[in-house]
Amino acid sequence: MTPIWERLPDYNALSARAATILLESVRNEPDIVLGLPTGRTPLGMYQRIVAQCAREYHRFKEVTTFNLDEYARIPREHEGSYATYMRRNLFDHVDVQKTHIPNGMAPDLDEECTRYEQEIADAGGIGLTFLGLGRNGHIAFNEPGTPFSSRTRVVELSESTRAANAEFFPDREPPSQAITMGIGTILESKRIVLLAMGSTKHEAIARLRSRKVDASFPASALWTHRHVHVLLA
Ligand code: GLP
Repeated sequence: MTPIWERLPDYNALSARAATILLESVRNEPDIVLGLPTGRTPLGMYQRIVAQCAREYHRFKEVTTFNLDEYARIPREHEGSYATYMRRNLFDHVDVQKTHIPNGMAPDLDEECTRYEQEIADAGGIGLTFLGLGRNGHIAFNEPGTPFSSRTRVVELSESTRAANAEFFPDREPPSQAITMGIGTILESKRIVLLAMGSTKHEAIARLRSRKVDASFPASALWTHRHVHVLLA
């Protein structure tokens, strides 16, 4: 299948479209396994899902979720952790029960990565993954140069990624490491939806649009996947 490239008029439209894709997928497949992103971009999608669920009951009980990444050595309760983000923006508002986020506080982080991959395999793999786009083209926390075959592992964050996320850590230095699904892990998802918006992403979007597959631009790995849907605003 050719990748679908869809331009939406604005951020609201992008968020509404992404929320519809997610909710329709859950409706069609109540026990779907979802890969979920964090960051500013998917906030509108989560808001719409929560609002929809308040208006009309949507069953998330059988849904399983796997987050793409989590900071290392940041307690789950910290304001900047992705565990906090997910609780606030989705998990506290829907009846989802089977949620998974890498444990950045695990005593042995490498073991945690192996465990996470195993959990994904035990769930039967991921059916639909939503992704944001980093300014330098990163997906999850796979920075430029990451092999497309990479698996869940501990990574060093680039200075630009740390700077982009520094506002979420007003009380301390932004974390320098994270656990992330690998590009290979992400590409095994049956379907992928990439969300990209904002003036800080123009360069990354232009590179993506060129469709040149190159490890120096991690998001270009998506062009090797058969079922990718790109939503742009
Ligand atoms: C972080 C996340 C990515 C996300 C990226 C872009 O680095 N780990 O998964 O896609 O930020 O975030 P934003 O949507 O805030 O621009």
